[in-house]
Amino acid sequence: MRWVSGAWVVGIILLTASLTVTAKAVELGDKERGHAYAQKFCRECHAVDKDDHLLLGDVPTFQDVADSDGMSPRALAAWLTTSHPNMPDFIIPANDMDDVIAYIMSLKTPKQ
Ligand code: HEC
Repeated sequence: MRWVSGAWVVGIILLTASLTVTAKAVELGDKERGHAYAQKFCRECHAVDKDDHLLLGDVPTFQDVADSDGMSPRALAAWLTTSHPNMPDFIIPANDMDDVIAYIMSLKTPKQ
């Protein structure tokens, strides 16, 4: 039954390879995942998509956030690690934070 363990080894190598690729994507931030996360957790207050309507008067849309002066992934990360004014206990897990940042930055209107 040697071939069985051979198949296992190949399987494990393939699995490890795919996990490594996934881990890399998470590190850089995956905007699709960030989009899904934002729709779930941020949309209660923010307009998450370009064509979302503003739900609350004073809450900036993610489009506005992306286009505000000097906005960068670093600035966004700094903002998101300090607590939200209305939500002192709102902590975004690090992996999700990278994804959300990637998503918001992807909304930035290209400079003419
Ligand atoms: C309960 C409502 C609520 C939820 C949910 C919420 N926010 Fe906010 N957020 C606000 C309000 C209100 C402000 C404006 C506060 C201010 O600028 O002082 C704000 C401001 C921000 C800003 C700063 C914008 C700027 O340029 O000043 C960012 C970035 C932001 N939110 C990201 C997020 C993300 C990402 C999520 C989801 C993970 C989220 N928010 C969920 C209410 C919310």
